[in-house]
Amino acid sequence: MENSEITKGLLGFLDSSPTAFHAVRSAAGILAENGYVRLEEKDLWELEKGGKYYVTRNASSLIAFRIPVQGYAGFMIAASHCDSPAFKIKEDPEIVSDGYVRLNVERYGGMLCAPWFDRPLSVAGRVIVRTDAGIETKLVDIGRDVALIPNLAIHMNRKANEGVAYNIQKDLLPVIGSDEVKGCFMKTVAQEAGVNEKDILGHDLFLYVRDKGTVWGLADEYVSAPHLDDLQCTYGNLLGFISAEPGAGIPVLAVFDNEEVGSSTKQGANSTFLEDILKRIMTALGMDTQEQLRMPASSFMVSADNAHAVHPANMDKADPVNRPQINKGIVLKYSANQKYTTDAVSAAVVRTVCEKAGVPVQVFTNRSDMIGGSTLGNISNSHISLNTADIGLPQLAMHSCYETAGVKDTAYLAEMMKLFFSLSVQTECDGNYTLK
Ligand code: CO
Repeated sequence: MENSEITKGLLGFLDSSPTAFHAVRSAAGILAENGYVRLEEKDLWELEKGGKYYVTRNASSLIAFRIPVQGYAGFMIAASHCDSPAFKIKEDPEIVSDGYVRLNVERYGGMLCAPWFDRPLSVAGRVIVRTDAGIETKLVDIGRDVALIPNLAIHMNRKANEGVAYNIQKDLLPVIGSDEVKGCFMKTVAQEAGVNEKDILGHDLFLYVRDKGTVWGLADEYVSAPHLDDLQCTYGNLLGFISAEPGAGIPVLAVFDNEEVGSSTKQGANSTFLEDILKRIMTALGMDTQEQLRMPASSFMVSADNAHAVHPANMDKADPVNRPQINKGIVLKYSANQKYTTDAVSAAVVRTVCEKAGVPVQVFTNRSDMIGGSTLGNISNSHISLNTADIGLPQLAMHSCYETAGVKDTAYLAEMMKLFFSLSVQTECDGNYTLK
């Protein structure tokens, strides 16, 4: 696929994924189009050789896998996350005063607040609705400009350009209309979901920005959009996953919710989701305990979550030499205290895969006097422990509601993953591996 085609696909994926629920639905749609069969965790699984499957948990995390036609070495796993920092709408959502109705919101994850001001916003998520038999989940997206968080005029804060401390409960509540629409917010949500307001028994609703993604730069080299962290990696992994040739390993694609709030939910990377699914695959393949315990030794995981590119106005915030540039390839992320899982072995595997795939590799480390973020790899390893590398795609303005990355890098990840999922990393002895 051409870069421009991949970027167009990415922008479509982002556009249809305003929340983690929608991102999982978007990914599931692409998998279904490519012949993947949906499984339910509650069911007995009878997996067929050559079968292609996916399963979701909480409708906000997803794992897809393929069963090889003959034999199997280990698992080849790529993980990413599908949630982004956002404002979550509180249970009783409206605040009415001085002629305005505002939404009562709280913080989900650690966002940059300033970019949320003065942009058209909308609301999406899920509602849980009463049925005759019990309850039912409905995804909902109001899908039009219904909210905005207005800045305070410079005349009322002359020091606005010297830095502002925002108070979420005071400054970040979006206006959704005049007091004439008092009581109409949940009605609108119900209407969009096609249900009666009185039947809504629960909701997980989030604000999202309505600005569309765009490709820009004199040579069209940049892509800016909401949710690039981490749907850019999710999309790249997914493209690689569906296009990979069958190999000796069992390819597994994992997309986790709740990375931005520490992953400790029933569907996050710190849950049993991945280990449960791997166990079920091994059981369905008839492996005994001994065989199951041999599997991690010849398995490999890539945890893909976007990385900081060196910033044009703040070069001093990056490490003196390990500083990624946009459109220069996959970023291997290192941290001595193992916030990132990459070590000499897993880096060597990633470098070998990228070399074979013709994909450039660059390196990120934090400045030694700065504390960086954490991600999925080390958390997942506490449940299923195997050689893992943390990688990402270089981007600017991480956790802004409108982020910037490179058009070439999504394609690099897709290329790398296409090869990755067709390989296996088999242990010869502890420390020596065969890639085939
Ligand atoms: Co991330």
